[in-house]
Amino acid sequence: MKKKLVISTGAGMSAESGISTFRDAGGLWENYPVMDVASATGFRRNPALVHEFYNARRRQLMTVSPNEGHRTLVDLEKDYDVYIITQNVDNLHERAGSAHVLHLHGELTKVRALDDESLIWELPPENLDTTPDTLIDGHRVRPHIVFFEEAVPNIEPAIELVAEADIFVVIGTSLVVYPAAGLLNYVKRGVPVYYIDPNPAAVPAGVTVIKAGASEGLRQLKEILCRH
Ligand code: APR
Repeated sequence: MKKKLVISTGAGMSAESGISTFRDAGGLWENYPVMDVASATGFRRNPALVHEFYNARRRQLMTVSPNEGHRTLVDLEKDYDVYIITQNVDNLHERAGSAHVLHLHGELTKVRALDDESLIWELPPENLDTTPDTLIDGHRVRPHIVFFEEAVPNIEPAIELVAEADIFVVIGTSLVVYPAAGLLNYVKRGVPVYYIDPNPAAVPAGVTVIKAGASEGLRQLKEILCRH
């Protein structure tokens, strides 16, 4: 029976692929007023601006690839039951080949019907742009993204995964956005927790911090895990 390895990733996981993080120097929120382009209020106020913001991020996503860190997480599936919980809206974990990926903040390549949130479509690579007037099957659409001010529907299944983890690893997140940042609190007592980040945020005692980027940090983690 393979041990359950639960991984929680943030924007730092995709940094080495060339996708800027949010709060690092030069990060996305330095160039865009986050509440205008990534909040429910901003979407109500100026939907065209929000559509364009995500159109630009979709176009950029098509130009980048998974990095060594993403591939190491796939490799770990040989020896562990690996479950990824990600705050990232990119599809790099899926494109690297990870089998179980749970998105907390939505998925950049998808849109959903404004009048029925159960209707979700993957945008075709040849037509990634949407506007407030785009119609799919007669429905107006919005980015399939969890905006600030909106609930995080996948937090419950994410908490269940963390509560069942034999090993929990947090990679590339500043741990400032809840409820994602609170997942750490659901690990069973005695379960080892690792945090890979070149500029780590403060974490509770007992968490093993690996002060490195995702790829290098996961190389070090593999070393540690195969010694147990
Ligand atoms: N490898 C690993 N981590 C890295 C790397 C790297 N190469 N480069 C930077 N980092 C780390 C930074 O040190 C920082 O701790 O990635 C983290 C990025 O933090 P944020 O930009 O705050 O990204 P994140 O924590 O994922 O943001 C959470 O906030 O804006 C919302 O919805 C958005 O999902 C996002 C959420």
